[in-house]
Amino acid sequence: MAKPVKRIGVLTGGGDAPGLNAVIRAVVKTATNLGIECVGLEDSFDGLIYPERSRVLTPKDVTGILRLGGTILGTTNRGNPFAYPVQTADGGTADYSKLCVENFHKMGMDALVVIGGDGTLGIAYELQKHGVPMVGVPKTIDNDIVETTMTFGFDTAVSFATYAIDRLHSTAEAHHRVMCVEVMGRYAGWIALYSGMAGGADIILIPEIPYDINKVVARVKEREAWGAHFSIVVVAEGASPVGGEREVAIAGTADRVERLGGIAAKVSADIERLSGKESRHVVLGHLQRGGSPTSYDRVLATRFGAFAVELLNQGKFGMMVALRSPEIVAVPIEKVVGKTRNVPVNGDLVRTARNVGISFGD
Ligand code: F6P
Repeated sequence: MAKPVKRIGVLTGGGDAPGLNAVIRAVVKTATNLGIECVGLEDSFDGLIYPERSRVLTPKDVTGILRLGGTILGTTNRGNPFAYPVQTADGGTADYSKLCVENFHKMGMDALVVIGGDGTLGIAYELQKHGVPMVGVPKTIDNDIVETTMTFGFDTAVSFATYAIDRLHSTAEAHHRVMCVEVMGRYAGWIALYSGMAGGADIILIPEIPYDINKVVARVKEREAWGAHFSIVVVAEGASPVGGEREVAIAGTADRVERLGGIAAKVSADIERLSGKESRHVVLGHLQRGGSPTSYDRVLATRFGAFAVELLNQGKFGMMVALRSPEIVAVPIEKVVGKTRNVPVNGDLVRTARNVGISFGD
């Protein structure tokens, strides 16, 4: 029989998402109730590379953090211990994974709760192969993790983007302009699709459906013809034209993924040039990741965190907690890593959007 879990570590990795603190709180409170001690590791896996960057968390330490954005533990998307950025003349990386495994044991931990997106969960999966038992909690505003219908953080990001689109409507209408709003999401169009539908966008451009700028312009002109002298275009940062490339602001390196950005500026300039209508663009950027989580995200994050500890307590390792509405379930982590959950192009959401007259530029 596996040795009972008495001390666990918890860490947050990758880009932050509203609800991280709610998960940490649920992990600590549930663990304490089960007689398990909880250690908070700072800045993702850095807390395993540098054990002094860790601290025991008690319920007192997590009181009042449910409603807070960010993460009390800190995070990084440049902390992969298998390719850790080191200071050499030419940049460079080092493999600190063995050190992480050694420190995990030295710190007396039995398992980890790893709260992260695909990248962080992939690292945890690799560490588990080297003897670090884990349970993953799917985090990302992008909502692009497979095997779960929702990640926490997404609802908050969508709510903010919807609020921004609502505000852009009045100024677009007043000036008879086109407004192009760039939202996050990496290679998936979930944020664009949900916020665009909720915000009443006229055109939504997502990575899953390459757009033809002439069709986008045709929709703007069509609206003009029937008396709507403004249009709202929601553009996912990963969208691209048919036969064209994504807009990459900074290329990826061994220790960091590429940074997307710039597509709304391009779409806006193209619309202005081809339609003769004045157009502006706005990039919502990290505003979508900041602030207080919505009540939906707080509840989902709490359910995820509590269930992750229940799994560890039952000796069920190598799992990711997931939402299969209405239940929270456990799925083997190997079914998750290295995959991206994209918007189904023939699914109900896209069909519904088309039914209410939204153009995808195709
Ligand atoms: O994955 C979450 C996300 O916010 C993406 O939507 C976006 O492309 C990326 O992170 C931005 O990351 P960074 O924090 O490096 O700017």
